Amino acid sequence: MYENKKNMAKNKKIKILCVVGARPNFIKITPLIKELKKYPKFQPIIVHTGQHYDYKMSGTFFKELDIPKPNYNLGIKAGLHGEQTGKTMIEFEKVCLKEKPDLVVVVGDVNSTLAGALVAAKLHIPVAHIEAGLRSFDKTMPEEINRVLTDHLSDILFCPTKTAVKNLKNEGIKKNIYNVGDLMYDVFLKKIKFIQTESKIIEKLNLKPKEYALLTIHRASNVDNPEKLKKILKAVQSTGEKIIFPVHPRTKKQIEKLKLLHTCQLTNFQLIEPLGYFDMLMLEKNAKKIITDSGGVQKEAYWLKIPCITLRNKTEWVETTKNKWNILVGDQIQKKFNFINHFKPPTKQLKYFGQGNAAQKILKIIKQKI
Ligand code: UD1
Ligand code: UDP
Repeated sequence: MYENKKNMAKNKKIKILCVVGARPNFIKITPLIKELKKYPKFQPIIVHTGQHYDYKMSGTFFKELDIPKPNYNLGIKAGLHGEQTGKTMIEFEKVCLKEKPDLVVVVGDVNSTLAGALVAAKLHIPVAHIEAGLRSFDKTMPEEINRVLTDHLSDILFCPTKTAVKNLKNEGIKKNIYNVGDLMYDVFLKKIKFIQTESKIIEKLNLKPKEYALLTIHRASNVDNPEKLKKILKAVQSTGEKIIFPVHPRTKKQIEKLKLLHTCQLTNFQLIEPLGYFDMLMLEKNAKKIITDSGGVQKEAYWLKIPCITLRNKTEWVETTKNKWNILVGDQIQKKFNFINHFKPPTKQLKYFGQGNAAQKILKIIKQKI
């Protein structure tokens, strides 16, 4: 696996190529890039696949989180799964052949993650997967397919939790598994201290803390089926809460196409553009409850101790439900409606996601391995 090491000239830089493509990837890569830059021996190369491309879904995170400008932008944009993954592979292969990296790092579970891992593995370039071992055990989620395949293609598996380690072992992956904690927790702990100075969103939207619920929806399974989306929006409306709803572009397209604001009479809703990271954390922190189908938002709700209602049948972040700070409503949304209104988590919480030093741990291991 680490053939490259033998071949490496003594003073040659070690090229670490980091693949990012979607909003959560940019957030996750932030502490890793910062850490990589501390070692002159490493040469980080950032490849943005262009899966997400609107300024509010991409550029804003590079600016706010001070991530260096990507060395490559593959400009892939939207498409069906095969098209998006395939196009990413075609373009990413060219970059790998040109750069000949010593390691390809992929994060999370989006199509860019799988495309990056598949190209690198076939070129015999070692692959490190950050956020390895997560499983929802729901193969109807495209992310679950991406997770399983990426893990089985990877040479180094960086897990955020003990459960993730166990999941990999259960699938017969035995070597090079490291429980380093959650990179998103690193970012969260660092940035949450600055939200008062960095975000004025509460004032801007004229909100009062704990007098609104925060909603995010973007899973294809919730959004692409008009009946499902209507059912969710109507159920959320009937909670009677004021709903602040930063709308993902996938969801925006459907809401506009189906004229749902009108047909579902979403009178309690305030729809806003996708937010930057600081504004999002600020809205999460001050929410009475969070209603979401996001992976990352479920964890942030947990860390902020905000009751979370997850619009899914399954979650890969099982720790949050085990602790009863997060409930899954999925297909049962109407039946569980009462539950949504009266959901009160216990006060106690266990720590599951590391100590906020995942990036340091990852780099230490990469240094030994490459
Ligand atoms: C993707 C990931 C999902 C992740 C989410 C994070 C896959 C299979 N899905 O879902 O796991 O949770 O990102 O937000 O990789 N669009 C824009 N502007 C943008 C980005 C997207 O208009 O900047 C539109 C596209 O036109 C497309 C739709 O949103 O029609 C979906 O984008 P896509 O990246 O395919 O999937 P997401 O739903 O964003
Ligand atoms: N996020 C954000 N602005 C938004 C919505 C989400 O900054 O308008 C952040 C959120 O705080 C979390 C991450 O994006 O850190 C989650 O990404 P997303 O929900 O798009 O994807 P998922 O985690 O479901 O893959």
